[in-house]
Amino acid sequence: MPYPYQISSFADYEFQYSRSIQDPSAFWSEIAAHFTWCKHWDEVCNWNFTEPKVEWFKGAKLNITENCIDRHLAEKGEQPAIIWEPNNPEERTRIVTYNRLHKRVCQVAQMLKNNGVKKGDRVCIYMGMVPELAYAVLGCARIGAIHSVIFGGFSAQSIADRLDDAQATFIITCDGAYRGNKDIPLKSVIDDALIGNKTVKHVVVFTRTRTPVSMLKHRDLWWEDEMDHAETQIERDGVVSFPAEEMDAEDPLFILYTSGSTGKPKGVVHSIAGYMLWTTYTFVNVFQYTPGEVHFCTADIGWITGHSYIVYGPLCAGATSLMFEGIPTWPDAGRFWDIVDKHKVNILYTAPTAIRSLMGFGEEPLQGKDLSSLRILGTVGEPINEEAWHWYNEKIGKNNCPIVDTWWQTETGGVLISNMAGITPSKPGWATLPLPGVQPLLVDESGNEVMQKDEQGFFKGNLCIKAPWPSTIRTTYGDHERCRTNYFATYPNLYFTGDGALKDEQGNYRITGRVDDVLNVSGHRIGTAEVENAINMHAGVIESAVVGYPHDIKGQGIYAYIIYNHLHLDENLTRLDILQTVTRIIGAIAKPDKIQFVPGLPKTRSGKIMRRILRKIAEGDLSGLGDTSTLLDPAVVEEISKGKL
Ligand code: WT7
Repeated sequence: MPYPYQISSFADYEFQYSRSIQDPSAFWSEIAAHFTWCKHWDEVCNWNFTEPKVEWFKGAKLNITENCIDRHLAEKGEQPAIIWEPNNPEERTRIVTYNRLHKRVCQVAQMLKNNGVKKGDRVCIYMGMVPELAYAVLGCARIGAIHSVIFGGFSAQSIADRLDDAQATFIITCDGAYRGNKDIPLKSVIDDALIGNKTVKHVVVFTRTRTPVSMLKHRDLWWEDEMDHAETQIERDGVVSFPAEEMDAEDPLFILYTSGSTGKPKGVVHSIAGYMLWTTYTFVNVFQYTPGEVHFCTADIGWITGHSYIVYGPLCAGATSLMFEGIPTWPDAGRFWDIVDKHKVNILYTAPTAIRSLMGFGEEPLQGKDLSSLRILGTVGEPINEEAWHWYNEKIGKNNCPIVDTWWQTETGGVLISNMAGITPSKPGWATLPLPGVQPLLVDESGNEVMQKDEQGFFKGNLCIKAPWPSTIRTTYGDHERCRTNYFATYPNLYFTGDGALKDEQGNYRITGRVDDVLNVSGHRIGTAEVENAINMHAGVIESAVVGYPHDIKGQGIYAYIIYNHLHLDENLTRLDILQTVTRIIGAIAKPDKIQFVPGLPKTRSGKIMRRILRKIAEGDLSGLGDTSTLLDPAVVEEISKGKL
């Protein structure tokens, strides 16, 4: 096995799994010994889920960038760390070797230092998928600044809220970003986000699209100028260096905002050592990575999948990570397959929504594309339906590539439940088995372990985890109580995932979806309360209720029921105004797919909206409405049903 901690067979999995549970300290210290530390830890793991407190490798000192870059330089300096494929296939590919990555990251670190950014400061990164985004992330980690990457699809208002929550002092952005046939004016969105901001001192702008930008004196800086200046500082006689800050194992590495069941996204915090170990360990084991292979994760670095499986996991393992700037359907629906062919991709990791959308174009886009380099396929982000699974298996994998269905969350930092390619069996629609160190538990509403099988012979319940794994969420930034109530208070002494799941007799898990008010639209997480808040900002809206409904491509679509204050409205125009409002407040990803104007909402006598009923109507299941007699106004249900879109 190329990595000392790589699992080699099903029997080895069983052996490692039981060791990880029986003696986690020995198990994890052996793995940790294969990383680079400045100082050894005092204790492997110290935790309680009541506060919650989770600490791994306490007392140790390290810098994650030395693990991701420096330690590979002697042997792999000239190997590609990042292969960058531009949005436009006519533009040239960029290959970033480990040596070059080292230099660029040192330059960013120097640039941050030159501009007064210090260890612990929060740096917001709002960029398209260019290699400079990876340099920015790692440059922060090199000096110990906490990065908060915001996906390029979020609005100025969303950015403003996140800047404020994190009290960020520095921003790295681009003039614009290319995505398919669109140019997204990122800097101009940042300018709007900064109106009224009191904490940000500088904005560094990388030139990508040459979109005109306004540059404010004393505040805004060009990336190119700053990096050129930094280059003269970090290079002496051809030797590049910028000392990596010695960080505590438990210092925060980054904040990543994600939606919950309230209107306000929360800043999930991961700490350095545990996150590093888990992303690397899971990358190597789930994908069974072999050095030299090309790993293509199609996510955006603005989401956790990109953080863990484009940047940190692969680089820490010394892998070659392919980073793609564009979208799967531009210039045509063969774009992924061209990339696989051109760069001889070995591992392809994407989302079920992308598979379903590409499936819709049939086999024509696959014609003439050589996919024979593919060895392993993966999916993430939402349950995969069997039809999409089989299409992926047959048309892309040619029945010859194991598919890993990886279940995890922003809060878990890396994959928790998944088969391991070629090592543990796959089962279409099932994430299958927990990785070593992960102890799932299915509980009923009162928190008792589910012991009885249902009619189909499955255990069915809410998915919890019994003990911490190295990259457990540490806190929600600035509000530890929120972390406790959200994840650790529903069931005492358990981490609650918010997902429902089934378990079969062999111990395989099938994730059935969220059991809270969180939607999963095209693998993006959106809170219904967040969308409602945005809709309610529109001047004419009196009240709204948002639910999810099954959508062929997106997995879930957003269905909004809205009470509007004008009787004779131009419905279509008003819908467009509301969509515009949601785009302004959150971003285009949160736009409802359907808007139904209703005279009232089904409420209990205590005024609580009966979402169950609204979900049934949105699903088109009018027979399953159940007992509506306890409603304040039962007649409203019939009226809403009549107007269903
Ligand atoms: C939610 C987490 C983890 C990276 C992408 C999403 C759903 C994730 C699977 C899967 C079924 C899945 C869950 C989870 N989910 N992976 N393989 N099968 N559902 O991260 O935005 O934090 O969302 O995505 O519902 O709770 P996220």
